[in-house]
Amino acid sequence: MSKKTLTLTDNSTDKQVELPVLNGTHGASVVDIGPMVRDLGYFTLDPGFKATASCHSSITYIDGDKGTLLYRGYPIEQLAKKSTFIEVAYLLLDGELPNKTELDSFQDIILSHTMINESLKKLFDGFHHDAHPMSIMVGVVGALSAFYHDSTDVNNSRHREIAAHRLIAKMPTIAAASYKHSVGQPFQYPKNSLSYCGNLLHMMFSTPCEKYEVDPVAEKALDLLFILHADHEQNASTSTVRLAGSSGANPFACISSGITALWGPAHGGANESALNMLNEIGDVSNIAKYIAKSKDKKDPFRLMGFGHRVYKNHDPRARVLRNMCHEVLKSNGNSNDPLFELALRLEEIALKDDYFIEKKLYPNVDFYSGIIYKALGIPSNMFTVMFAIARTVGWVAHWQEMIADPAMVIGRPRQLYRGAAQRDYVGLGQR
Ligand code: SDX
Repeated sequence: MSKKTLTLTDNSTDKQVELPVLNGTHGASVVDIGPMVRDLGYFTLDPGFKATASCHSSITYIDGDKGTLLYRGYPIEQLAKKSTFIEVAYLLLDGELPNKTELDSFQDIILSHTMINESLKKLFDGFHHDAHPMSIMVGVVGALSAFYHDSTDVNNSRHREIAAHRLIAKMPTIAAASYKHSVGQPFQYPKNSLSYCGNLLHMMFSTPCEKYEVDPVAEKALDLLFILHADHEQNASTSTVRLAGSSGANPFACISSGITALWGPAHGGANESALNMLNEIGDVSNIAKYIAKSKDKKDPFRLMGFGHRVYKNHDPRARVLRNMCHEVLKSNGNSNDPLFELALRLEEIALKDDYFIEKKLYPNVDFYSGIIYKALGIPSNMFTVMFAIARTVGWVAHWQEMIADPAMVIGRPRQLYRGAAQRDYVGLGQR
């Protein structure tokens, strides 16, 4: 079968060029615009990269119209029901589900890296108690490169593998320490007899003076939340990690850049903003006012946790989380949590509103996650930190995929220049 191409004609010169069309396993085909740049001298303009494929990838596939999310080909609904976060981490990094031996070995490797260098703890003392935990995460994760010189050579595959394991293992420890710093309590060392999520809960909520038992319901809920947040194709923070990594920056610096990008309220910061919004709305009687605000172009207010660049149908993760909300709230006796009731009513009213229907705005992953984190006793300023722990697996998987690609080049977009035409310098006395 002949290769499919698009023919582009420049009407100003009648020059024609054939642009190769490349097909993927699923989803939209892409047009290789190389010949257009080379033969016609044009760039493309695509602010926000709404129609730009930045890379080849085999990790995650999203179909925004169907509400499909696949990790290495496996539907998120099946992984949410049958897998664990550590197993999903292995799948995203390796590309295949592990057998028992591979899974146990991977779990042991991750557990062997959970502690952080004692000197790193001194960094936390430089932050005021009221520092947002995400500001600590950005600083401390980037500073890991000051300690692990034996895993910063991006051209060494063994270094890359160790750095990946260290990052996945140490994120919960650093996250828990940033929480402890904010509440003025002593850091708790990881307990490697616990699961990945059990250890996080232990490091966050245990204290030297009380016996602490991990709540299995909370542990399971956290594990499911982390599965759902682990990866999501070329989202803003993953694209940031890829761009940083394309310059050859060390993996710790790259993941720190991903944490920075995730922090924004339009991205991972939306879970904290969504809960704050629900608290601000306060009562079902105020929903109409806030929906009107979110439609008012003069008002910067948006319904946090609603809308998505890719999902123009339901976010499959939001559906799983919505059901999970019921379970978690019922298990800790808050089945009629007013915030959850309010969220359900807000979703119901918004999804019947012509504006939301026409613009295909549905609840996304951040709409319900905050309610669950709150039910688990996690403060709202830690919600995006939780997101960052889980997404570190995706960030690291994409970074590894990119660095291992022999065709990798530094990312360097171009622009449409609209500034002053070339002109000569005018001396001070002539201005
Ligand atoms: C995440 O990319 C990913 O995959 C991200 C993520 C991941 O896992 O990595 O899924 C995680 O970041 C989820 C999104 C979390 N953010 C929020 O919940 C913040 C609220 N949502 C919006 O800010 C917005 O929907 C975005 C940022 C998510 C998407 O913005 P787009 O794709 O740039 O869409 P847009 O801003 O151009 O909106 C299209 C229209 C606009 O109206 P018009 O200019 O066409 O008249 O829809 C309106 C927007 O005003 N709109 C909203 C809205 N979201 C979009 N109006 C009210 N409330 C909203 N939430």
